[in-house]
Amino acid sequence: MQTRLCSIGGALLNDRLSTLSTTANVWVFGYGSLIWRPDFPFAQRKRARIDGWSRRFWQGSHDHRGTADAPGRVVTLVATPDAYCDGVAYLVDDAVFEHLDHREKNGYERNDVDLRFARDRARGVVYIAHRSNHAFLGEAPIERIALQIQNSRGPSGSNREYLYELAAALRNLDADDPHVFELESHVRALEADGHQPAA
Ligand code: SIN
Repeated sequence: MQTRLCSIGGALLNDRLSTLSTTANVWVFGYGSLIWRPDFPFAQRKRARIDGWSRRFWQGSHDHRGTADAPGRVVTLVATPDAYCDGVAYLVDDAVFEHLDHREKNGYERNDVDLRFARDRARGVVYIAHRSNHAFLGEAPIERIALQIQNSRGPSGSNREYLYELAAALRNLDADDPHVFELESHVRALEADGHQPAA
């Protein structure tokens, strides 16, 4: 059966991989920018949930939303019994991992994970930046994280954009995440107060 590949913002990669369109066979779970910026070809996209993990802005970003001297903050997953994390799973070909490994290179590792869909389950892969990685920043008061996000910018754009896009994408999925929505409120309040945003 012919599988149709889809891609958002990944035309070049899509061209390169178009001959692989019948071999998409791995589910990749996205919970951060992979939800709203899938720059790779995929055969299917589905809302998904993983158990035992919480999404947290505890990972430093030196390469996308900050710099080596002034890292921004992006999300990672923190093991949390009884919690769950909602996101999106993409069915991709193995060849996509070359691109994803490069994109997620600042401290993230591929981990196997159980995915829950609305009606069924599957085994998949997720990128997690564990506490031991060099770019891990860890927990901090929400006001400090908000200020860091408000002040950070890197080659991929402002850290604020990353947070706002993620919050919007979660709302579109009808997914609740108090940590993300609270941070969004703080950063929007900083902006409204005229706090000097990152250029
Ligand atoms: C992900 O989106 O699944 C990983 C974290 C990120 O790239 O923002």
